[in-house]
Amino acid sequence: MTILDERFRKFEMLPNEEKIKCFELNGRLFDMILSQQLNRQVLDDIYKITNRLRTIAKSKAGSVFLQTVLCHKRAMLYFAQPSSRTFLSFENACHILGMKTSEIRDPSVSSEVKGESYDDSLRTFSSYTDLIIIRHKGQNMAERSAWLLNTCTNRPVPVINGGSGSDQHPTQAILDVYTLQRSFEDQGGLEGKTILMCGDLKRGRTVRSLSYLMKNFEGVRIIYAAPKIFQMREDVCSFLERHNIPYVVELEELEKVLPEADAIYMTRIQDEHDEYAGESKKTDSSRFMLKVSHLASLRPNAIIMHPFPRRDEIDVAIDADPRAMYWRQERNGMWSRAALIAYIFNVHQQIMDY
Ligand code: NCD
Repeated sequence: MTILDERFRKFEMLPNEEKIKCFELNGRLFDMILSQQLNRQVLDDIYKITNRLRTIAKSKAGSVFLQTVLCHKRAMLYFAQPSSRTFLSFENACHILGMKTSEIRDPSVSSEVKGESYDDSLRTFSSYTDLIIIRHKGQNMAERSAWLLNTCTNRPVPVINGGSGSDQHPTQAILDVYTLQRSFEDQGGLEGKTILMCGDLKRGRTVRSLSYLMKNFEGVRIIYAAPKIFQMREDVCSFLERHNIPYVVELEELEKVLPEADAIYMTRIQDEHDEYAGESKKTDSSRFMLKVSHLASLRPNAIIMHPFPRRDEIDVAIDADPRAMYWRQERNGMWSRAALIAYIFNVHQQIMDY
């Protein structure tokens, strides 16, 4: 164990409220690591910037302007786990703002295979770039990166968590809430709505990060529908209890709770986290899939979401239903990530004033 490991272990033991301070600079959001960092004001600001970006980018002159906003900055995308949407939406988000990007998408082509430590690799990325976006199978790697750069180096470049192990995926939660707010615009927004989350809640980082964000919205109620073995973990449930967010657990079947939901958030079984080959397959998850026959029991204004990739949790025939929101949700990712980057670099006022 190195001296850095020892110091990080102490940091990891701090309560979240303490840790979060390490991810701020001058009282502002600097690193985006945990959903718990986001309050309502920051979310609302990011969503205003998102809407503004979309409008500006509609014209060529607007797009050219946006590309000047961060043309003096470079971003590094370190994606040590498979990714299509998160990678592409971040890369394009950077380009919308004029940032140049570099990438390592496979740790086998990084000097880590020559025995370089993760910490040294990270410091190297920070030597060349002004922002690091990380996806990693270890749940504390994004956290460790932000901690390392902020406390042990003189190059504290911001770190954004693009998905850490089975723990958190805060930028997915940002785009999910944006999608919810936009979809319920004419119905008072997300406040007071019932959000049904279904699938692998235990190891799905998207539903975990999304659950944490619900503290920012009054009157939200959550339904967790999954077989017992895939139910939401205790840490998230106790967070909801501490914040008086009501939730119920459905262990039998999705169909029973569908009529109560304003949003149905489906997820796939995260079998890459199985402890042995075939572990997930031992559980029958077929009663937790959305089928065409279910559509009649959904509320007329309900929306269907999925972070993707999907397997068979949502029948493709459902894509034609106007309540299917997942393709739009996917597109929202690029714009809300561009807004987050503009917010972190504190250049959003230029965009709002354009
Ligand atoms: C998710 C992820 O990687 O956690 N995908 C994504 O980023 N949109 C969900 C998943 O892999 O099931």
